[in-house]
Amino acid sequence: MRLRILVLPGDGIGPEVLAQAVRVLQVVGRLFGHVIECADAPIGGAAIHLTGVPLPDGTKRLALDADATLLGAVGRPEFDGYPPDRRPERGLLELRSVMGVYANLRPVRALPCLLSASPLKPEIVAGTDLVVVRELTAGLYYGKPRGIFGEGAETRAVDTMAYTRAEIERVARVAFDLALTRRRHVTSVDKSNVLENSRLWRQVVTDVAREYPAVTLTHLYVDNCAMQLIIRPTQFDVLLTENTFGDILSDEAAVLAGSIGLLPSASLGDVRPSGIRAGLYEPIHGSAPDIAGRNIANPLGAIGSVAAMFDYGFNLKAEARAIENAIETVIAGGTVTSDLARDGHSATTTEVGDAVCAAIEARHARVVA
Ligand code: IPM
Ligand code: MG
Repeated sequence: MRLRILVLPGDGIGPEVLAQAVRVLQVVGRLFGHVIECADAPIGGAAIHLTGVPLPDGTKRLALDADATLLGAVGRPEFDGYPPDRRPERGLLELRSVMGVYANLRPVRALPCLLSASPLKPEIVAGTDLVVVRELTAGLYYGKPRGIFGEGAETRAVDTMAYTRAEIERVARVAFDLALTRRRHVTSVDKSNVLENSRLWRQVVTDVAREYPAVTLTHLYVDNCAMQLIIRPTQFDVLLTENTFGDILSDEAAVLAGSIGLLPSASLGDVRPSGIRAGLYEPIHGSAPDIAGRNIANPLGAIGSVAAMFDYGFNLKAEARAIENAIETVIAGGTVTSDLARDGHSATTTEVGDAVCAAIEARHARVVA
């Protein structure tokens, strides 16, 4: 295939982890016979410095045109205290919205060799293999009206949480379709004992579940879900939830994998006429300004996001498995950054990228031979 990939390095550790992800992408392209064309564009704080806005029109156009978009991270401490619409994060929220990527998949697996990297007891995390499906382009993040109004003691802040039936249905279908390829269990998370949004959520998800008789649906309140995730994470297969709950629960779930640096994500929209699904792929760790520019950040979340791109965006499963296998081989072999290192020896960002490329090449050579 000929694949045109837009690369958005962004802020903090974004550029360094994405550089390794792009190397892996090129290796896989070469070995599997794909022509990979990459273009770069600014987003976030980097874009504000260059153009005054966090999502320049040029970046928007390129993202709508590309077959897939890879993102590093957005966010810089210098913008702390700015109003939301002038912060780097706004660039990402706008990009998700213009690309229409309404379903955010965040897979979390506890690899046997990393059980001791989690602060939870190994016997609790062992066997964890779940995917958070987070609604990404509606809810509190986008609802109107919003703002801070009035003065003095009467100053009022307003955020609006709103969902339509259609917005819930489409993300629910992504979750149920995914469950069909896995252990066929969807846990839908809401707060329907308090929120109107959640009452509609539960009703619509229950309706969609009727189209999927092979999938078991369980409902859970979000507060209980937060607790169940660390008490018995193995009960979860696909965890379906709205935007804000999903943001919070996915950071919590990351602890099960040992380090948030490991976690990839795929944000998916509808399938385009080309047969490719609109997709934005990014590690979930954020910009980590405290360690930026030191070549110590974990690139595996970014590299795993390339695997997610092949898997969900292009339906190229062998390419995705090649990357995932290489990630596991490299972790098991102990070439890991300081967030995962135990014996005091940690590898650099570049060394982990080298090791993943080498593992992909080595396995490919064996398979071809
Ligand atoms: C995430 C991040 C973003 C979000 C921020 C950077 C806007 O926390 O992808 O989880 O809240 O969605
Ligand atoms: Mg988050």
